[in-house]
Amino acid sequence: MSASEGDELATLVISLRRHLQRQQRMGVRFVARPGVAAMTPTATENKKAVADKVERVSTNSDRGEVRSLEELRDDIGDCRRCKLHSGRTHVVFGIGNPNAKLMFVGEGPGRDEDLKGEPFVGRAGQLLTDIITKGMGLTRDDVYIANVVKCRPPENRNPEPDEVASCEPFLKKQIELIRPKIIVALGKFAVQALLQSKVPITRLRGNWHTYMGIKLMPTFHPAYLLRNPADKKLVWEDIKKVMKEMQQ
Ligand code: URA
Repeated sequence: MSASEGDELATLVISLRRHLQRQQRMGVRFVARPGVAAMTPTATENKKAVADKVERVSTNSDRGEVRSLEELRDDIGDCRRCKLHSGRTHVVFGIGNPNAKLMFVGEGPGRDEDLKGEPFVGRAGQLLTDIITKGMGLTRDDVYIANVVKCRPPENRNPEPDEVASCEPFLKKQIELIRPKIIVALGKFAVQALLQSKVPITRLRGNWHTYMGIKLMPTFHPAYLLRNPADKKLVWEDIKKVMKEMQQ
């Protein structure tokens, strides 16, 4: 390991210690520690190894003590379980029908969502709303919309593994409580997080998969469609499969 990599690792260890001390002050008594991750010589891999050790904090959701979406929202509280809390305005929990047959899962809130506290309300959100209303003949109140992470990543970067690990029990519990018939996973990030797969979205989309026994359709993210409108027809193919399945 070079001197600068050593420095970076030392900085990470200090922030890890501070993070754990903050958690402790908030009453958290348990931190899941998976097997020790293989240490490798690059700075990136060292960073990941530290993140893996943090993994995630046990929640009421993990312990099965949460029985409704309201209780789940309370369990999340003024969450400080990962570093995303420091830049957020609102925890963007999710919105829609708690008994929805259809659930959309995106990546994480952007600027508009962070300010409003509601998922998919910006430009990409307008496109998702059009898919739901104009495409499917439903309203946003008929479906449920949530994200993999509930706080906005700075500069809209991809959520990092420790952030996903901290939020994952909440998304899982949300899905368990809603128990939709179908999940539409929007974009590479949501698909890969839910299916634990590194297969590219271009290969996964348009085919049925299963998450916790629930049918899951991966498709392109609306933000991708804003940049690549020619692929809207592919999403429409995927959505037609979803509508057909919902009628069965
Ligand atoms: N993109 C997402 O993945 N989620 C949102 O809520 C908004 C934009």
